[in-house]
Amino acid sequence: MTDTKNSSQPNSTTGSGAPAHSDRNSLTVGPDGPILLHDVHFLEQMAHFNREKVPERQPHAKGAGAFGVLETTEDVSAYTRAALFQKGCKTEMLARFSTVAGEAGSPDTWRDVRGFSLKFYTDEGNYDLVGNNTPIFFLRDPMKFPHFIRSQKRLPDSGLRDNHMQWDFWTSNPESAHQVTYVLGDRGLPRTWRHMNGYGSHTYMWINAAGERFWVKYHFHTEQGMEFFTNAQAAEVSGQDADYHRRDLFEAIAKGEHPSWTVSVQVMPYEDAKTYRFNPFDLTKIWSHKDYPLIKVGKMTLNRNPENFFAQIEQAAFSPGNTVPGIGLSPDKMLLGRAFAYNDAQRNRIGTNFHQLPVNRPKVPVNTYMFDGQMAFEHSGKQPVYAPNSGDRSWSDDTGKMDGSWEVDGDMVRSAYTLRAQDDDFGQPGTLVREVFDDAQRDRLVETVSGSLLGGVHSPVLERAIDYWKNIDADVGRRIEENVRAGGK
Ligand code: HEM
Repeated sequence: MTDTKNSSQPNSTTGSGAPAHSDRNSLTVGPDGPILLHDVHFLEQMAHFNREKVPERQPHAKGAGAFGVLETTEDVSAYTRAALFQKGCKTEMLARFSTVAGEAGSPDTWRDVRGFSLKFYTDEGNYDLVGNNTPIFFLRDPMKFPHFIRSQKRLPDSGLRDNHMQWDFWTSNPESAHQVTYVLGDRGLPRTWRHMNGYGSHTYMWINAAGERFWVKYHFHTEQGMEFFTNAQAAEVSGQDADYHRRDLFEAIAKGEHPSWTVSVQVMPYEDAKTYRFNPFDLTKIWSHKDYPLIKVGKMTLNRNPENFFAQIEQAAFSPGNTVPGIGLSPDKMLLGRAFAYNDAQRNRIGTNFHQLPVNRPKVPVNTYMFDGQMAFEHSGKQPVYAPNSGDRSWSDDTGKMDGSWEVDGDMVRSAYTLRAQDDDFGQPGTLVREVFDDAQRDRLVETVSGSLLGGVHSPVLERAIDYWKNIDADVGRRIEENVRAGGK
């Protein structure tokens, strides 16, 4: 360290812009005397330091991201009038990738589902797609979500992660079987974020210029090819570099290797949903590609690293509730629950006016009557702060049937979805194991499940877990049972 100031730039300042006297010595009475309370610069540094962290995201705390562009290369205007999906449109965007259960400092390469969050700064406001690297999820009802996340995190007494707790939750909620099969298969250990697919996962609505409605599922297929780690490779990398995925993405983009994804949708005509053989809004199910083949939309490319991780990634606020004209939600109960959860989390995590931060601010003018609050920065000037008003500030006044509606009827109930012919928990995971996985993938699945069950899962959850796997696939279940018996001796 040098003893003299070696920069040609002006000295540092206090937060209020006046020259700061010293960043090295506090103000004392004589060289050995006590520190003085009116050393405002010292006190300001101490106080700000105590406040320089915001709470981490409840789930998906560990992640990173980059900026890029979505280019719509195909004509899908028959299905949506959303500006960003009109052929030739290029939309600036932000992506953030994450693990689900690990804390902000945990290794990127622990086995988990990976978050795949996208924010599109469209001409009609921000559109967020907050998905994962798997096309389905563990649950069907948002009431279960806090319980699910707690069961994947840490024990209350020891603060340890716990396989028994995870399996207790999964086996008590058999609708988790499809996602559990994905996450304990290769998809749970992507080699890098560049080498994984992303999915909107839920069913969304698209609405075209004529007002016709369609149900859609989004697919983002990596153009780098899918690549995975084995358990042994992931364990080694986790020990060497907790930030392996973050580093990989940042370095690739810095070198000009811009990762890209082909964007496609499956489109289901609105009326088909009423009679499809299973509930197409059930988030634990994929739609058959034979019934609803992929329709290409365009390409997403990440080409710009953040300049400030905290400001642009940590303070990024994604929400499945952020839709734009031409795009709507669906009767998926999980999606409807999420439409509330995210912005509420962000008011707590970042602050009331999180939407005013540059990374979250839409590129279109905002005319919101949300007023004041901590850290308010944008304002409407001398205009009415209420609506309706007799000044010249506009307000909204839609009435009647909303754009993007669907029919609902019935009493208010607490219930699972009405069952249809193929609404079961184990059919699709069984197909995944038997028809999509090859022998090597099945072997790795058996190894991973057996290892997890041998890592502290005990009766009665252990027996339930073996039955769970036998329900998914008799042979895989039998092999897991044999391994557990042999390992438990
Ligand atoms: C009812 C179910 C769910 C609830 C209540 C919920 C709630 C949350 C909350 C509160 C956050 C933190 C937000 C923040 O602090 O900025 C979060 C993050 C996230 N969730 Fe969910 N979640 C649910 C289901 C899902 C599903 C089904 C998916 C994927 C298909 C998903 C993907 C993500 C992702 C990717 C993030 C990270 C967002 C980011 O990168 O900032 N979540 N979730």
